[in-house]
Amino acid sequence: MSATVETVHVALPGREYDIRIGEGLLARAGAEIGPLLRRPRVAILTDETVAALHLAAFRAGLGDIEAPAQALPAGEATKCWAQFGCAVEWLIEQKVERRDIVVALGGGVIGDLAGFAAAVLRRGVRFVQVPTTLLAQVDSSVGGKTGINSPQGKNLIGAFHQPSLVLADTGVLGTLAPRDFLAGYGEVVKYGLLGDAAFFEWLEAQGPALAAGDVAARIAAVKRSCEAKARIVERDETEQGDRALLNLGHTFGHALEAATGYSDRLLHGEGVAIGCALAFELSARMGLCAQEDPSRVRAHLDAMGMKKDLADIPGDLPDADGLIALMAQDKKVQDGRLRFILARGIGEAFVTAEADPALVRSILAEALAAR
Ligand SMILES: NC(=O)c1ccc[n+]([C@@H]2O[C@H](COP(=O)([O-])OP(=O)(O)OC[C@H]3O[C@@H](n4cnc5c(N)ncnc54)[C@H](O)[C@@H]3O)[C@@H](O)[C@H]2O)c1
Repeated sequence: MSATVETVHVALPGREYDIRIGEGLLARAGAEIGPLLRRPRVAILTDETVAALHLAAFRAGLGDIEAPAQALPAGEATKCWAQFGCAVEWLIEQKVERRDIVVALGGGVIGDLAGFAAAVLRRGVRFVQVPTTLLAQVDSSVGGKTGINSPQGKNLIGAFHQPSLVLADTGVLGTLAPRDFLAGYGEVVKYGLLGDAAFFEWLEAQGPALAAGDVAARIAAVKRSCEAKARIVERDETEQGDRALLNLGHTFGHALEAATGYSDRLLHGEGVAIGCALAFELSARMGLCAQEDPSRVRAHLDAMGMKKDLADIPGDLPDADGLIALMAQDKKVQDGRLRFILARGIGEAFVTAEADPALVRSILAEALAAR
C-alpha cells in the first residue's frame, strides 16, 4: 500500500468532515471509521457487483467492528422507492440506533440511496461514504445531495444530508470497467473547465497516464476534484447560487440522458462530457470565449477515447426541438427560464439565463446533422 493519504476538509460549520483519499484505504477502514463510532458496529448498504468485489476486503479492514451488509441490485434502476423502502426496513431490522453509522459502499447509486436512507431513518443518522467509482469519488460522495429517482425524473426525491466521512480508496477503481472509469473522468474534466484552467492543462498532460492506472495521478485528480467541489459546497451548500456551476455540461447532458432513456447508450458522465463540449460551443458562438476553446475541450475528450459529440451516441435521438423540450424539464429551470452554465474561457464558468434559444437550437441542429 502506498503511504500517501490525502485529506480534503469540508468546512461546513456543524457538519464538517474529511475526505480521505489514498490507495488501499479499505484495509484501514477500522482505523478511519472507528473514531466516529459510539459502539463497534456499522450497517453497510452496497450493490451486488461491489459486494462481490470489495465487501470482504472492506469487512477485513473494519477488523472487530461488526458489519452486517445488504447488497441491492447494481444499476440506476435501484434508485427507486421500492429499493429505498427495502433498504430502510433492513436498517430498522438491523436495529440501527440514532447514534450509529450507516456505510454506503458503492458508486453514486448506492451513495445517493444510502445517504437518503440515513437522512430519514430515525429522523437522521450519520453515514460514511465509501465511494467505489471514479464518479462517486470525485463528485457524488461529496456535498450531501442524497436521493432517489421518480418515474417523472432523476433525483426528484431527496434530502441534503452531509456524510461524516468520505473514504476514497483509489485502489478499488482498478476493477471498474474502462467505460465506467472514463464516464467518471467526464466529471473530473468538468472541474478543470469550470474553475481551474491549470488543472485542465494538467489533465491534458496526465489524463492518459491516469486512465492507464497511474496511482499518483489518480490520487492527485481525485484530490483536486474534491477540493474544487468542497470549496463550492462551502460557499453554497443548498444551491442558491454558485453550486449551480457544478452543473456545467448538465443541462445538455441531462437532456441527452433522458433522450437515451437513462440506458447504457449514454452514461451520466458521458452526457456531462458531451454537454461540456456543447456548453463551450455555445459560449464561443455567443462571443464569450475564444473560438479555439470548444475544439480544445473536444480534443482532450477525443485523446481520452471519450464520447465528445452527438455523433458518438448510438441509436436515434430526438430533433433539436425535442432535445430543447427535454432541457426545459431540467431542475435548473427557474421561473420558467432555462439557466445555462457558460464560460468566458477554460476555467471561467458562470451561471446565466441569457442564452439565446435560437442559437441553442442551431447548435443542436448542426450537431444532429453531423451524425
Ligand atoms: N449526489 C450527488 O451529488 C451526485 C452527483 C453526481 C452523480 N450522482 C448520481 O450518481 C449516480 C451515478 O453514479 P455511478 O456512475 O457511480 O453509478 P453506479 O453506482 O451505478 O456505478 C456504476 C457501475 O459500476 C459498478 N461498480 C461500482 N464500483 C465498482 C468497482 N470498484 N469495480 C467494478 N464495478 C463497480 C456498479 O455496480 C455499477 O454497475 C447517478 O444516480 C447520479 O444521479 C449524484
